[in-house]
Amino acid sequence: MMENCQRQAKVLAITSGKGGVGKTNIAANLSVCLSASQKKVLLVDADFSLGNLDVIMDLNSKYNISHVIAGQKNIEDIIHIGPEGMEIICGGSGLENLTNINEFQRQRILNELTMLGSNTDIIVIDTAAGISRSVIGFCLAADHVLVVTTPEATAMTDAYAMIKVLVGNRFAGRISLIVNMAETIAEGKKTYRQMANVVRRFLNTHIYDAGILLKDERLSSAVRMRKPVVLAHPKARITSSLVALAAKLGKASAAQPNDEGFFRKVVDWFF
Ligand SMILES: Nc1ncnc2c1ncn2[C@@H]1O[C@H](COP(=O)(O)OP(=O)(O)OP(=O)(O)O)[C@@H](O)[C@H]1O
Ligand SMILES: [Mg+2]
Repeated sequence: MMENCQRQAKVLAITSGKGGVGKTNIAANLSVCLSASQKKVLLVDADFSLGNLDVIMDLNSKYNISHVIAGQKNIEDIIHIGPEGMEIICGGSGLENLTNINEFQRQRILNELTMLGSNTDIIVIDTAAGISRSVIGFCLAADHVLVVTTPEATAMTDAYAMIKVLVGNRFAGRISLIVNMAETIAEGKKTYRQMANVVRRFLNTHIYDAGILLKDERLSSAVRMRKPVVLAHPKARITSSLVALAAKLGKASAAQPNDEGFFRKVVDWFF
């Protein structure tokens, strides 16, 4: 029966390799666009060291996932409601040290997180930079990994390293590349082609083209205003690009009944 068929959210993890390439801004803006197009979105800040989603979204995040794991808060106590009704949870530091939890705590966390996932169409995960165990755990548990790079050689090398780890761990989902801070569309396209070629040649894998975002001073000015650029500058070109990106990703991530569930995979990986 349909009622018994739990709808599980599709999970999009946003990651990079190199730091500072625009993951958090892309995660925040995409989430706003997806919410505006009637999707139920949950944005998770999974950067446990220096996550700055709370800055961009102007949240006061006193409590976070680590308090839920420690049993001090329930999950509903740490959810923020953001623009367009999206839900946001902040990661908080210390999560990676909490490996000594017992089976009862583990089950409690899993139940709380699964409840969240079942009321949601799409979960957007903003990961930390680098290929740490926790970042890889979130990516492997996702349905779709969006790798962010810039045209810089160092960013491309680090993005390649991340894709190599995913492929090496037999990631079964879709991998897409977004080129951020390109000077021109031509430069962005060239970056995508180079990455796609190297990944095909050495990893025998296809990476999808998620699109190009140009370097735009209005994005930085929006960050200073503590606002996602799509809300601060609705008419800017970068806003149209982000809206188009959201439409593309929303289609690729339409909610379906899902076998295992994202949070079970994450909890299995961490604990
Ligand atoms: N398209 C763009 N145009 C201009 N500046 C940009 C663009 N994208 C990102 N930036 C700048 O880069 C900064 C870093 O972006 P962001 O915090 O989203 O990166 P990140 O990948 O999440 O970083 P970290 O690895 O530290 O988490 C922004 O504050 C902004 O100033
Ligand atoms: Mg970030």
